[in-house]
Amino acid sequence: MRWKTKVTELLDCEYPIVQGALSRIGNWKFAAAVSNAGAHGCLTAAVSLTPDKLRDDIRRCRDATDKPFSVNITVGMCPDIDEMLEVCLAEDVEVIETAVFNADVIGKRVKDAGRKWVHKTATIKHALHAEQQGADALILVGLEGIGFKNAAQLPTMTTIAWATRQIKVPVIAAGGVGDARTFLGALGLGADGVMMGTAFMATQECPISERFKQRMVEADPDNPYLRNTVLAPPNPKDFEAVMQKRNEMPLERWLTALERVMLKHDDWMLAPEMWNEDYDRISSLMSFAVTYIDQIPTVKEFVDGIICGAQDILAGWEFLKK
Ligand SMILES: Cc1cc2nc3c(=O)[nH]c(=O)nc-3n(C[C@H](O)[C@H](O)[C@H](O)COP(=O)(O)O)c2cc1C
Repeated sequence: MRWKTKVTELLDCEYPIVQGALSRIGNWKFAAAVSNAGAHGCLTAAVSLTPDKLRDDIRRCRDATDKPFSVNITVGMCPDIDEMLEVCLAEDVEVIETAVFNADVIGKRVKDAGRKWVHKTATIKHALHAEQQGADALILVGLEGIGFKNAAQLPTMTTIAWATRQIKVPVIAAGGVGDARTFLGALGLGADGVMMGTAFMATQECPISERFKQRMVEADPDNPYLRNTVLAPPNPKDFEAVMQKRNEMPLERWLTALERVMLKHDDWMLAPEMWNEDYDRISSLMSFAVTYIDQIPTVKEFVDGIICGAQDILAGWEFLKK
């Protein structure tokens, strides 16, 4: 079966599966492993720290895979953002992914350079805005996901079903996706592909500790700590206070303050120490995708498992054959 969708066409990959950007984790080796497995790998620019290192990392990624990959530029969090973008364009990176904040200026530069611009948002309002600005595809992250949260975020099912009724460009569903059933479910809701962050972290190639991965295997979505981080709305007073400070500090500092309020814990600030073997707690850097994590496969085994699993499910639906 060929999994040809608007996303595989746009990103030139075999399966409509995209790796989420992962701060302090998403390096070139990991991105290359994902692209080599037939999905679409993503190198997180902030992981490279400097534009020179990003140039080296893009070249290393190219040497490690002949498949396309994207570079994620997280607005307000990626250092030297203009220079990082320049490097991506000079190195002929085909797809630039932006996220977290308004990316109109970056998007325009990407489009003017003839490249593909994919933007990630947590709300349909922001997705529609990016579509108007010329984004080639939109990633919508629902409430079950992790990463940068938004106070107006809705559950993944509602977000995707609502988004695909309004957005014309390809939609990539994220937030709690992590197995064959959630993959098929997202496509059933009208998405053209899925993005996974948490689930890709539980693979052998992910550069975090085995202990952290084991914690992901053990974690259930009803774990009170996880439930509170992923699902609970921010404390209204803290939220109001941080929103009032929007123009009182540089964007980068404000986004960090906002993330603190949204995630309700500070433990995510412990990364990269959190990826060391001696860190042994459930962390706020995992989503409801832990529901499906019960082993630590290679990236290829993980991607193949989703695709074969989805094919088996479709083949087993007798009502489709009548
Ligand atoms: C540890 C971790 C770090 C992340 N860092 C970033 C980041 O730097 N930039 C970004 O755009 N998204 C980031 N994300 C969000 C993911 O790219 C993706 O949108 C999210 O993981 C999707 O939800 P899921 O975890 O349920 O799959 C991060 C997610 C995790 C789990």
